[in-house]
Amino acid sequence: MTITRSVHLCHIDELVDGESRGFDPLRAGHDTMFVVRRADRVRAWRDACPHINGAPMAWRKDAYLNAGRDRIVCSAHGAQFDIETGLCVLGPCIGQSLEPLKITSMSGALYLEMAPA
Ligand code: FES
Repeated sequence: MTITRSVHLCHIDELVDGESRGFDPLRAGHDTMFVVRRADRVRAWRDACPHINGAPMAWRKDAYLNAGRDRIVCSAHGAQFDIETGLCVLGPCIGQSLEPLKITSMSGALYLEMAPA
C-alpha cells in the first residue's frame, strides 16, 4: 500500500482556461511544479526541463506556454512539449518527457498527491 499526502494547490476556478500557473507546494521559495488548464482538464508537471535536469522552465512567473498556447515551452533553449503527454516535440531534448505529477480534484479544489519523503 502506498501512502500519499495531499497538498492543496488552488480551486480550478482560479486557473485561467488555456493558461499555465506555477506552484511551490513544498515551500522551496520558488515554483517547483506547474499546471496547465484546458477546459475542465488540468495537467501537472514538475518544473524541471529534461534537457538540463532540474532547470526551471518559465522565463517569468507562470509563463510555461508558447505564444500559441498549444505547447509547453522551456525558456532556456526553447524546447517545446506536448501539453497532454509532456513529450518534447521540438528542441534540444526531443523524445524526452517532462515528469508528470498526480493531482486530484475534490469539489473543484485541486490537490497535488505526493509520496511521503
Ligand atoms: S534547459 Fe530546457 S531547453 Fe535547455
